[in-house]
Formats: sequence, C-alpha cells, structure tokens
Amino acid sequence: MINQDIKEILLTDDQISKRVAELGEEITKDYVGKDIVMVVLLKGAAYFATDLSRAIDSNLRLDFMVASSYGNGTQTSGCVVVSLDVKESLAGKHVILVDDIIDTGTTFATIINLLKSHNPASIKTAALCDKVERRINGLQADYVGFTIPDNFVVGYGLDYAGNYRNLPYIGILKPSVYART
Ligand code: IMP
Ligand code: MG
Repeated sequence: MINQDIKEILLTDDQISKRVAELGEEITKDYVGKDIVMVVLLKGAAYFATDLSRAIDSNLRLDFMVASSYGNGTQTSGCVVVSLDVKESLAGKHVILVDDIIDTGTTFATIINLLKSHNPASIKTAALCDKVERRINGLQADYVGFTIPDNFVVGYGLDYAGNYRNLPYIGILKPSVYART
C-alpha cells in the first residue's frame, strides 16, 4: 500500500480539483480569441495538464516534452536534459508551458529559452505547486495552483524515483522511504 509511505497529506484531491477548475477559468478569460498550445512536461505534469486542459474553454492543442534534471534522488542536478521535443508548430501560437512543480526554477527557465527559438506569439507558465523559497533564478510562474513549503512531495503526477505518481492527493513522503533506496 503506497499510502503507508506518506507522512502527511498536503493537498487533498478535492482541494486540487477545485483549484484546477479556478485556474482553468482564469486561463479561459485570459486567452479569449487566442489559440493555445499547451506544452506539457512529462511525466510529472501529465495528471495536472489533462485535468487543467479540460477546465479551459478555448481552442487548445496539446504537446509534450520530456525534460529531466533529477536522477533518482530528491535534489536537482541543475542540468536539464530534453529527451522528447515538441512536435506541434509553435510559431505565432500562444504557448502555456505546464509542469507539476517549480523548485529551483531551472527546468522552466531552460525550457522557456528553448521554446523562444520557435517564435511563439507568447509563452506563459503554469505549475500546480510552487516551492517559492527554493528559487535560485527569480522565475515567477503565471499560473500557480498552490505555494507549498520546502518538503519533498509526491502524488498527482509527482514522483519519487518514478513511483507514487498515481496517488490522487499530494503528500509529504516519509524520510524513511529515501533511506530505503
Ligand atoms: P526545478 O528545475 O528545480 O524547478 O525542479 C522542477 C522539477 O523537479 C519538476 O519537474 C519535478 O519533476 C521535480 N521536483 C521538484 N520538487 C519536487 C518534489 O517535491 N517532488 C517531486 N518532484 C519534484
Ligand atoms: Mg519533472
């Protein structure tokens, strides 16, 4: 039972779905008459992005990137490697880059730079969780679900070493779990 590895539930599935609906409404209002391409960072943002996209009432195309900076630990390596790139044409489009969580800000900063070379009409960012106090580059996301304290969290797409993404809530992992691996 993966529930047993969770020390504390930080965000319930109910809190998450309410907040995702609010973000969807906000984005819908901000993008009236605009075509959105949602660029989703796999695998973590898959859960958030599919829910968020269904809460947005605009013309929207979905695309995916795989960008990783984490090994199997809980600290970023600082170097972001892209192993799957976008397929949609982004030129002249309104891009919303979506991730599960912002930590140091390195992933978003790196990917925004890469996406700029496609000449989109605009690029904004959305993240379900934001550990603001961990930021090293001043990056501020445009749409943030929840600002959370500096704990390693899992669930609703967020993983530890590839596991726990399928928890319906977001919880703080027991430190004893890291010790095991
Ligand atoms: P950043 O590049 O330092 O902002 O880190 C962002 C990436 O680190 C996200 O795409 C997540 O995959 C991962 N990450 C950061 N904090 C957590 C966490 O608490 N749980 C799971 N993944 C995290
Ligand atoms: Mg990630």
